[in-house]
Amino acid sequence: MAKQRRSHQENSSSQSGLSKSQTINKLQRKKQTDKKLWINKFPYILFFSILVALCAVGFIYYQRYIENRVRMPLTAPKVITKNGLEIPERYWGSYRPGVYFGLKTRSPHSLVTGLMWFSQNIKDNLKLRHWCNQWDGLKKYGWLQHDGLNFGEQDIVEDEYIITTTFVKRSVGEFGGDWTARITVKPQPSNSTVQFPISLLFYTALDGEGVIIPSLLSGNQLSAIQGETSDLGKFKISFESTSSLTKYHFLTATAPPGLHELKETVMQHFALFKSDKKSEPPTIGLIGHSQKQTGMGAETKINFIVHQITALPPYELEVLFQSASMPNQFNSLKGNIYTTEHKKHKDNFEAKFERVFQLSAKKFLKEEIQIAQAVMSNMIGSLGYFYGASMVQSQHNKEPIQYWEAPLFTAVPSRSFFPRGFLWDEGFHNLLISRWDAKISKEILGHWLDLMNVEGWIPREQILGLEAQSRVPAEFIVQKNTNGNPPTLLLALESIVRRMELGEVEEDLEFLRRVYPRLQAYFDWFNITQEGKLPGSYRWRGRDALTEKELNPKTLTSGLDDYPRASHPSHDERHIDLRCWMALAAKVLAFLGEKLGKPWHAFAATHKYLTDNELLDTLHWSPLSQTYSDFGLHTDKVKLVKPKIPPPAPGQSTPKVDKVRAVLEEPTLRFIDHFGYVSLFPFFLQIIRPENPKLGKILTDLRDPNLLWTNYGLRSLAKSSLFYMKYNTEHDPPYWRGSIWINMNYLAVRALNYYSKLPGPYQDQAQELYGELRKNLINNILKEFRRTGYLWENYNDKTGHGQGCHPFTGWSALVVLLMAELY
Ligand SMILES: *[C@@H]1O[C@H](CO)[C@@H](O)[C@H](O)[C@H]1NC(C)=O
Ligand SMILES: *[C@@H]1O[C@H](CO)[C@@H](O)[C@H](O)[C@H]1NC(C)=O
Repeated sequence: MAKQRRSHQENSSSQSGLSKSQTINKLQRKKQTDKKLWINKFPYILFFSILVALCAVGFIYYQRYIENRVRMPLTAPKVITKNGLEIPERYWGSYRPGVYFGLKTRSPHSLVTGLMWFSQNIKDNLKLRHWCNQWDGLKKYGWLQHDGLNFGEQDIVEDEYIITTTFVKRSVGEFGGDWTARITVKPQPSNSTVQFPISLLFYTALDGEGVIIPSLLSGNQLSAIQGETSDLGKFKISFESTSSLTKYHFLTATAPPGLHELKETVMQHFALFKSDKKSEPPTIGLIGHSQKQTGMGAETKINFIVHQITALPPYELEVLFQSASMPNQFNSLKGNIYTTEHKKHKDNFEAKFERVFQLSAKKFLKEEIQIAQAVMSNMIGSLGYFYGASMVQSQHNKEPIQYWEAPLFTAVPSRSFFPRGFLWDEGFHNLLISRWDAKISKEILGHWLDLMNVEGWIPREQILGLEAQSRVPAEFIVQKNTNGNPPTLLLALESIVRRMELGEVEEDLEFLRRVYPRLQAYFDWFNITQEGKLPGSYRWRGRDALTEKELNPKTLTSGLDDYPRASHPSHDERHIDLRCWMALAAKVLAFLGEKLGKPWHAFAATHKYLTDNELLDTLHWSPLSQTYSDFGLHTDKVKLVKPKIPPPAPGQSTPKVDKVRAVLEEPTLRFIDHFGYVSLFPFFLQIIRPENPKLGKILTDLRDPNLLWTNYGLRSLAKSSLFYMKYNTEHDPPYWRGSIWINMNYLAVRALNYYSKLPGPYQDQAQELYGELRKNLINNILKEFRRTGYLWENYNDKTGHGQGCHPFTGWSALVVLLMAELY
């Protein structure tokens, strides 16, 4: 409007033949009409301005809302209603899986205690052990027994000596009670003497409010620590050691907040102490009170106290944590009293282990049962309690933002390499944990489900707190809300509910009622955000369609990272594994919904639809390879090549460039004919009907050594696949392209067990394979444990050797369920 009026005015004033006064009059008149016009229009303009302002404000609010939406919690009651001291028996525990030994409480800013050690033999350098680290090269470490509640016992095996860490708890009194840790150091049986003294460093650190004050005996010896925090009330930590030849040192210091630099703080405070005896070499010991002031003068508060003892093994150190709230009639948990309590818990553990897993009854040997106990104990003993906020990002955030601060009680895949929560691992973990202690499992599932945002999304990798963050490369920290991860929590939940039905687990409708709305939101999130183009099809998001260096773009979200999928990610893609996970999810929701009297018909209908074998075939059965497959824009004709670059200028060297992918043929829409774990999902999740001839085909293919079958379990990708054992980039070795993974093998054995129990033409075949596959897996995993001291991330398909990271007592620990035949 304004623009038109001005041009009109320009036109009129440029008209020739008008006198000056005429023009002025005209202009004045014009001004008046303009003014009138303006006055007439005033309400409109006002209205318009207000509207614009409102829109702007609304827009800003909306912008802020959508930016923050990713970190808004789901509006539904939390599953976890009791925290910290409301569950006193689980207050203290070995909830620091990332360190070799340490105890803390299940509270956000717990007092933490832990162990470091080193040999005074420092010909190379001082090897201070603290965080579990596979490069430390320990022969073996891990829990031998751990009941997840009262006690644990662990061996840590160095070349020359063995450290045994045990602890026993007594959960009485107001503040979660007392505990004692007994740490013994002895020579390896094969190395009858240790030539150099070994130093043990037991520390206490505060990550928040509270005080800890050292009590000193003579000289450098710390006799005890007195302390008080709001979480623990008043307490005392005291030390007793057996060797008379012990040397004592200590440190009081201020460690940087977050407690992720405790080792560095210790390393900065060593000195050489000369011996009284001339012949003795000096001892490396802590200097006592740190002079370093990290804060401002007197404000610096001691938050870190270390007790160091140094002696020739064998010797023993007892650390007593005593709460002032402990009733008087309890004697200190030390010496014989400790030994008796420890023995009592050990006996209970062994009796319960047999009751739950019945391995003696199944004629396993004593030594095999001990391994199984160690494997199960490592799962239970690696439970962690983390607190903090993930970094998350949605399409509306330019930069990653913080999720809300929350606790996570979870098991971890690997104490050395992955000491934090992983969503899809956790479902597998809880198949085992829930057999041992369904209460613990329910708490774990509850904590994970409480991390769900308003969209129904749960971040897949949980890196909470500074200690966790300091162990993860920056590029992996941010979690994107477009990306899912298999809903395996439902697998665990299904198992628990099934046993509630059988009366094996106490029915807990309150828990299920709290879980249900969250599962509904979770299901909807998948059903909406991961849906495919065709009805009944689904597609993992998060694949990189613009990749240049990857032979086949990874699908991290599916959990099976580099398993070959469509070479060119597109909207036409459909992923068979995700479709099967959705069928499972719909089944569990329908079942729970009906049980709880909630609307369940839609889930039942979706389940029926997704398990319809004919429909499944139209979307996913590849007539060419006669296997279930993904579908998408694909060509097999890809390879990694060195890019052509101009020759270097004279006197300069050729720059290093990575190989890039060359696509030698236009991709077409087709099935992705690579046989492996993904092809097996309709079988894994028991969607194929027992009389379906495709089941027969799958069972025959399974047993074929040229495809997946090995003497150690099923390999992830057929030997005949072009991607078998191929690097994905020049630097990315194959991961899910041939190696044997135990979670998928567990699903295979479980499915074989299922089909062997249902009448049908393939029942006997399933029965036979069941026996063979189960035996192969158990034999190899136990053999490798004996040979290497560890469970492994995956196993080599040619040699059966453990590979990847270790110890990996995450889903590889499912071997205990295979031994026990619990599915
Ligand atoms: C005994 O200790 C030495 C180091 O002092 C080590 O090299 C060797 O491997 C140990 N022997 C055994 C059987 O562990
Ligand atoms: C899942 O999505 C499909 C397709 O949009 C829909 O037909 C189905 O009802 C949904 N299932 C549930 C349980 O909401």
